[in-house]
Amino acid sequence: PRLAVLASGRGSNLQAILDAIADGRLDARVAGVFGDRPGAHALERARDAGIEARALRPRDFAGRDEFDAALFAMVAAVRPDYVVCAGYMRLIGAAAVAPWAGRIVNIHPSLLPDFKGLDTHARALAAGAAEHGASLHFVTADLDGGPVIAQARVPVLPGDDPVALAGRVLEVEHPLMVAALQLLCAGRIVLREGVVEFDGQPL
Ligand code: GRF
Repeated sequence: PRLAVLASGRGSNLQAILDAIADGRLDARVAGVFGDRPGAHALERARDAGIEARALRPRDFAGRDEFDAALFAMVAAVRPDYVVCAGYMRLIGAAAVAPWAGRIVNIHPSLLPDFKGLDTHARALAAGAAEHGASLHFVTADLDGGPVIAQARVPVLPGDDPVALAGRVLEVEHPLMVAALQLLCAGRIVLREGVVEFDGQPL
């Protein structure tokens, strides 16, 4: 399958995907990397791997729908089977998500449904959570609210600060991303009528 990856920043999740493809652990191809920040390191990682990478600036557009329409026109042009949000830090409007229903996933650094949105590590610490982690989920118009495919958990340890906790989560985020994409790309994970099915059975 062909993947389009959306990324806003560092791109370590994109790198995990590229490494898994290069190693033969993931049978897929990254057809393009797109984003909302032209300076993002993720775009450089893509170009280093010989992959088309383009970002648009939200401020050049009249509003969210106009930005999303332009971004997803570039996505559609590379004819992806799946769209993977890998550290893409912008809400995607309902109109842009709709055509990709069941074919667009996001990695979020919390154990959803806990801590949707930003600053998840600081919020998990402030809440006194004993465990934290990451979730790979289908994207719907409901921010970080789409059906969860898989999660990876880590303990919160005494003395943790948001940076230490984020680092521990990132270590499990990358294998989670790869494992979930393996299943998705093999057609073993499917979203049917809002329910995630694994090998034909509701998860
Ligand atoms: C990850 O923690 C991801 O879950 C979150 O932003 C971070 C992106 O990291 N949404 P990277 O750009 O993939 O390195």
